[in-house]
Amino acid sequence: MSTRARRWSLRTRLLCAFLVPLAVVLAVVGVAATTAVRGELLGQVDHRLSAAVDRSAQADEGPGGPGWPGGWPGWDDEGPDFLVVPGQGDGTLGARVEDGTVIEAAVIGREGEGEALTRAEAAALTAELARVDADGQPRTVSLGPLGSYRVVATAAGDDEVMVTGLPLDSVDAAVLRLVVVEVAVGLLGLLAAGLVGSAVIGRTLRPLHRVAATAGRVAQLPLSSGEVRLPDRVPAADTDPHTEVGRVGAALNRLLDSVESGIAARQASETRLRRFVADASHELRTPVTSIRGYTELVRHRGGLPEDADASLRRVEAEAVRMSGLVDDLLLLARLDAGRELAVADVDLTGLVLDVVSDAHAAGPDHRWRVDLPPAAVLVPGDAARLHQVLANLLANVRTHTPPGTTATTRLRAEGGEAVLEVVDDGPGIPADLQPGVFERFARGDSSRSRASGSTGLGLAIVAAVVAGHGGRVAVDSVPGRTVFTVRLPGATVAEPDAEEVAALSA
Ligand SMILES: Nc1ncnc2c1ncn2[C@@H]1O[C@H](COP(=O)(O)OP(=O)(O)OP(=O)(O)O)[C@@H](O)[C@H]1O
Ligand SMILES: [Mg+2]
Repeated sequence: MSTRARRWSLRTRLLCAFLVPLAVVLAVVGVAATTAVRGELLGQVDHRLSAAVDRSAQADEGPGGPGWPGGWPGWDDEGPDFLVVPGQGDGTLGARVEDGTVIEAAVIGREGEGEALTRAEAAALTAELARVDADGQPRTVSLGPLGSYRVVATAAGDDEVMVTGLPLDSVDAAVLRLVVVEVAVGLLGLLAAGLVGSAVIGRTLRPLHRVAATAGRVAQLPLSSGEVRLPDRVPAADTDPHTEVGRVGAALNRLLDSVESGIAARQASETRLRRFVADASHELRTPVTSIRGYTELVRHRGGLPEDADASLRRVEAEAVRMSGLVDDLLLLARLDAGRELAVADVDLTGLVLDVVSDAHAAGPDHRWRVDLPPAAVLVPGDAARLHQVLANLLANVRTHTPPGTTATTRLRAEGGEAVLEVVDDGPGIPADLQPGVFERFARGDSSRSRASGSTGLGLAIVAAVVAGHGGRVAVDSVPGRTVFTVRLPGATVAEPDAEEVAALSA
């Protein structure tokens, strides 16, 4: 099947499969009927023609012959002698051919008299009859302006051929009419069959459309994550197992049932795992804090041998790292569960200033720049979490770029969104790490990363917090320029109030 035919709708294909054979059958019946009727009509003409030939032959036997018309009163002698004899109908053709030349010819007119042929008619007659065989067999010839004729040629004396013919115009007219009627009735029949067929097919396929609509609605549901309910099912009327469409509908319903239970099972196990991580992190917090506390206590008491002090220092550092990790895990588990976001207007401008000055304190070897709009930009959100977003981004600059790197934090409001950018001119994120950089535990393998004890959760938290605020985060990094762009919806710009401006300018 060609690609184009395959693209036809089922309705079109069914209609074609129904109408094309119907049209072929109608055409075959029409051709057969027309041929039979024409044969029958020709047979009748041939019958009359043989009688006309007999009459002509008798008339041709000369004076005294039974048909000889010489004695008829008012005889107008046009055409061959044998033509105008009693019993010959109008339209009868008579011609005498000698040595391939028509020497006389006429047709009987309406009044029963012989009418000479016009020049054009005579020319057509000569062309057709010159090579006619005097075998007495009827044949159909086309005589130009005279139309088709059924003619019989018989030998009459030396080298002379007598041709008698009957017009086929009534046969042709009857056949033409039959063909017109057949074509008209056939086309009407096809049209009616097409309309009825189309309606019936449409009705039959309607349940299939409903099944497809159900599948389409389900396909639009976000099945990949979260609690998913699949309330859509194919209506019971379209699931009758006795019909083909019903079987498709029933199969789709079974599929939806099993997809729904699969999703529910996945969701349940995800929820269990999340709760386990949250519980475990929560439970770990206390012992980790205790370890930190006790090591600190012992170290501060002093009097420890040097190597023991060094070991304790190590234990304390690892405990600090572990408590950061546990906090991150707990936060991620809570964000996954969709909790933990307070919503109030957060002044991002003030937040940027705070976080950058913290970064400055923590990383005095880097250059920290800000680029802020004149008016404060506010977004609805959780101030502590947004603080953490920017802190994580700046901590990355501090830990993953060499001293002397410049980090610029930019803020602007754009189309109702607050756009926060952290740009640094450090070595950039390795290309193979970039696609998955926001995934959990994704981290570069540089010695700086290892030395800083990074865990690879910082950007995962950024992504989760931003997503929790309905925003987007993206990274674009080449050596010498790394840009993290955070977009948060619902930004408003607070124009500084007159008093503040006055106080500032005073
Ligand atoms: N500004 C940056 N310049 C170069 N590399 C970066 C930058 N920011 C992130 N990276 C790379 O992306 C990785 C993932 O960063 P992410 O903050 O998720 O984890 P981390 O910093 O390694 O660990 P954590 O933040 O949990 O302590 C980092 O390990 C680092 O290789
Ligand atoms: Mg980090």
